[in-house]
Amino acid sequence: MTSHDTPQALPQDADTDAYDQASLAARGVDESLTFARIAERHLERRSLLKGLALAGAAASVPATLTGFSGEAKAAPAALTFESLGVTKADTVTVPPGYKSQVVIQWGDPLFAGMAPFDLNAQTPAEQARRFGFNNDMVALFPLPYGAQPKLGGRFSHPSYLMAVNHEYATGVGQFADYPIPVSRDATLAPRTLPTRNHVETQMESVGVSVVEINMINGNWVPNVNSAYNRRVTATTLMDVTGPARGDTLLQTPADPTGVLIKGTFANCAGGLTPWGTYLTCEENWDGYFNNRSAVTDATLKTLHASWSSMNNAATPATSTDFTLFWEAYDSRFDLSKAEGVKEPFRFGWVVEIDPYTPGARPKKRTALGRFKHEAAQSVLNASNRLVVYTGDDERFQYAYKYVSNGRYNAANRAANDTLLDEGVLYVAKFSDNGTGTWLPLDFATLNLLSPGKFRNQADVLIRAREAAAVLGATPMDRPEDIEAPRDANWQGNGKVYMVMTNNSNRTATGTTAPNAANPRASNISGHILEITEADNDMAATRFAWTIFLLAGNPSAAAGTNTSVVWNGVPTFQGPAFGAPDNIAFDSTGNLFIATDGTAPTTPTCNDQVLVTSTAGGFPRQVKRFLVGPAECEICGPLLSPDDTTFFCAVQHPGEDGAVVDRSATNSKLRRTSVWPTGSVPRPAVVAVRRTDGGRIGS
Ligand code: FEO
Ligand code: CA
Repeated sequence: MTSHDTPQALPQDADTDAYDQASLAARGVDESLTFARIAERHLERRSLLKGLALAGAAASVPATLTGFSGEAKAAPAALTFESLGVTKADTVTVPPGYKSQVVIQWGDPLFAGMAPFDLNAQTPAEQARRFGFNNDMVALFPLPYGAQPKLGGRFSHPSYLMAVNHEYATGVGQFADYPIPVSRDATLAPRTLPTRNHVETQMESVGVSVVEINMINGNWVPNVNSAYNRRVTATTLMDVTGPARGDTLLQTPADPTGVLIKGTFANCAGGLTPWGTYLTCEENWDGYFNNRSAVTDATLKTLHASWSSMNNAATPATSTDFTLFWEAYDSRFDLSKAEGVKEPFRFGWVVEIDPYTPGARPKKRTALGRFKHEAAQSVLNASNRLVVYTGDDERFQYAYKYVSNGRYNAANRAANDTLLDEGVLYVAKFSDNGTGTWLPLDFATLNLLSPGKFRNQADVLIRAREAAAVLGATPMDRPEDIEAPRDANWQGNGKVYMVMTNNSNRTATGTTAPNAANPRASNISGHILEITEADNDMAATRFAWTIFLLAGNPSAAAGTNTSVVWNGVPTFQGPAFGAPDNIAFDSTGNLFIATDGTAPTTPTCNDQVLVTSTAGGFPRQVKRFLVGPAECEICGPLLSPDDTTFFCAVQHPGEDGAVVDRSATNSKLRRTSVWPTGSVPRPAVVAVRRTDGGRIGS
C-alpha cells in the first residue's frame, strides 16, 4: 500500500507526470494493513468531503466513493479519434495520437526477489507467486482505500489495486514440454498424460491476481513490493455463504458440512461492489470435471445429466473427452470417485474477494445462483438496494439480476456483508411487445409450478438453470456482459446494456427459433439489448427493452445473418464487427465494446474494441478503437475513472497455433503469434493512453 495523498488537492491544470511524481514521492509500504485502519482513513475522508460540500466547495470535490463508470446525465463526450481500419497484425494497434503498453503479462513476478519468468522452470509454487495465465476481466480499486479519483478529467489517479481474472489453462500454450498429442480426438495415439507438475502448475495459473499498479512517467507499473499483491487459485480455500451453504449437494468427504470450498477457476468476467470488493465469476468450470458416465448414484447421475443436457460443451462423460486430465492427480475432478461426485456443485458461483484485505478468505455467494456466470456488475437503486446483473454465457441460457433485501451502508463497510447473501435472484422474460418481466427464482412458486422438482431454496439456486426454464424465462443468444451505467454514488439511471455474443445454433424455425429479443437465426455476429427498468428503478420487476444494435457488417444485405438492419433500419454505421463480449462505459456514457470471435464476421481483422455513444438513435455511429494481436480475444475493457487510460486484457494470443499440427508428426507447434515478447505468446494486460495524457476517445 502506498501512503501518498489523494490527488484532489492538485490544481486542475497541473502537468500529469509532475503530478504523478509528486504523488508517488512519499510512497512506501504501510505497516498497518488492518481493515479497521483503512476504514478509519476512509471515514475521515468522507467526513472531510462532507464538510467541504457543506462549505460550498462541492463542485471542485468529486463526491464519488470509488467512482468508476458511466454518469450519463450530460451528453457523452464526442468521439473524435481516427477510426482504425482492419488489420491482422500481431500487435496491439491503436489510433494516431495514442500509445499502448503492456502492464503485466503471464508469469511476471508479483513479489520481490523473484527471477524472471522461465517457461521451462515452472512449478506450482512458482506460478502461485506470478501473474496467472489467460487474463480476462480487469478491475481497479483506488489506493488508498477511500481515495476518490476524479471522474472524467485529464489527470490520472496514480495508484490502484488491479484485480484480474485468469480464465482457463491450456496444455501446449503453457508448457514447452507438454505431452503431444493430448487431445479431444481419442484416435490420436499414443495418449500420454501430462505430469503432476503440469496439472498442479495449471491449478495455480487460473483464478485471480491482485497487484498494485502505479503511474510512473506516463506508464502503469506493477509494484512487487506491495503488501496487497495476492493470488487466488484453484487451491485457495473459500467460504460458502448464502442459502446453499451446507446443502447436501455441497457436502464432500473433504468438507462434510458443505461450507468450505477449495478453489476457484474458469474466472471470466465479474464486477465490483460499492464497498470496494471484487466479484469474480466462475464460467466454463464444468469442462474440468471428468468421468460423468461413471456416476452410480441415481439422483446425482440425473442431476449431472440434466446439467449436461442444457450445455453446449457438456461435462465430459469419459476421460477421453477432454484435454487437461486434472482428475489424474486430484480425485475431486473425477466424478467416478466419492471425492469428486459432488464437486461440480461447488463451482459455477460468483466469488467475492476483498482486495484491500489480503488475508481475507474469498466467499462463494450462493444467493446469486449457480450457472456459467459471466459478469456480476452491481449498481444501487434510489433506496440503496444492491442490484447485480449477471448472465449465463451459454447458447439458449438466461439473463439474471439479483436484488438485495437490505440497503447499502456507505458509512459501515462491514454492514454490507449480508447484501450478497440475503436477496432475490430474478431471471428475465422478454415479451415480443418490447416489455419484459424479472421472474423470481422462488422455491414456493417453483414448487407450485413443478411440485417436488426442487427440495428447497438452496436446491433452486444450485439448479438455477432448471428453475429458470420452469419459470419460462427467455432463452438468449449467450448472455455475456450485462452492465448498468452508474453515477459517482453508484446509482443507476434505469438503463442496462445486455450483450449477446452470438448463437450460431439459433435456427430459423422450431423450438430454437428466434424470439423478439434474439431476432436473428444463425446469429454469428451477436447483438446488444438496451433495457429500461420500470420507473428507472434498478430493482423493478418490469422493464422495457429494445435492440441497441445488431453487430455485423453494415454492408451486408438486409435479411442476411450479418445484416445490422432491424425493423427496416440500420442499427449502426461504421466498421464491421462481430461477437461483442464485454463492455465498459466512460464517465460520460460512451460504450466501449470488446469482441471475442469477430473473425466469422470480419475475416480480415483480429478481435477488436469498438466505441459508440449510448445517446441518440439509429444508426449509431461506431468507431474502431483498438485491434489486438493474432488469434487473441479482447477481455476486460475498462476506462480508468478519469477516462485517461483504457485497460484491456489480451487473452490467448496465438491460440490457434498452440495446437498439435495434425497434418505432420503430431509433434510440432505452429507459433502463430509471438506477442508481446517476440517469443512464446503471453496473455497480458494492456493500457492505452493518449500521448498527451488526455481523455480517451476525444
Ligand atoms: Fe469467458 Fe463468456 O467468455
Ligand atoms: Ca469472453
